[in-house]
Amino acid sequence: MHIENHPILGKKLQEPVTIYYNDLPLQAFKQQSVAAALMANGVKQLGVSRKLIQPRGVFCSRGRCYSCYVTVNGEDHVRSCMKKVEEGMEIYPNLEDPEVRSDKHGD
Ligand code: FES
Repeated sequence: MHIENHPILGKKLQEPVTIYYNDLPLQAFKQQSVAAALMANGVKQLGVSRKLIQPRGVFCSRGRCYSCYVTVNGEDHVRSCMKKVEEGMEIYPNLEDPEVRSDKHGD
C-alpha cells in the first residue's frame, strides 16, 4: 500500500513508474526507494542470509546493515533502501550467493 497523501507531508507520490520484480510488473513512484516500492507492493523478503540461509529484508532502511541486498538491472548486491526506482527497472531477490557460501569463505 502506497501512502499517496500523507497528512503532514502532503501528496508526494506523483510520477508512477513500472518496475519488475521476479519478472512481475509492479507499480511504484519515482520518489521511492526500491525497498519502499517493494514493501508497498507486499514484498517483505528480499533475500536470504549468506551463512544460515535465513530470510532477509529491510532492517535499518538507511544503508548501514546490508540486509536488503537485491539484484538491480543485473548488478548484484544493491542496497535496495538506498536505490531509487526507475522506469522498467528489473529487480531480483538475493537468493543465491554461492561464492560467499563456499568452503573457502569459512562456511
Ligand atoms: S535496510 Fe539496512 S542497508 Fe538497506
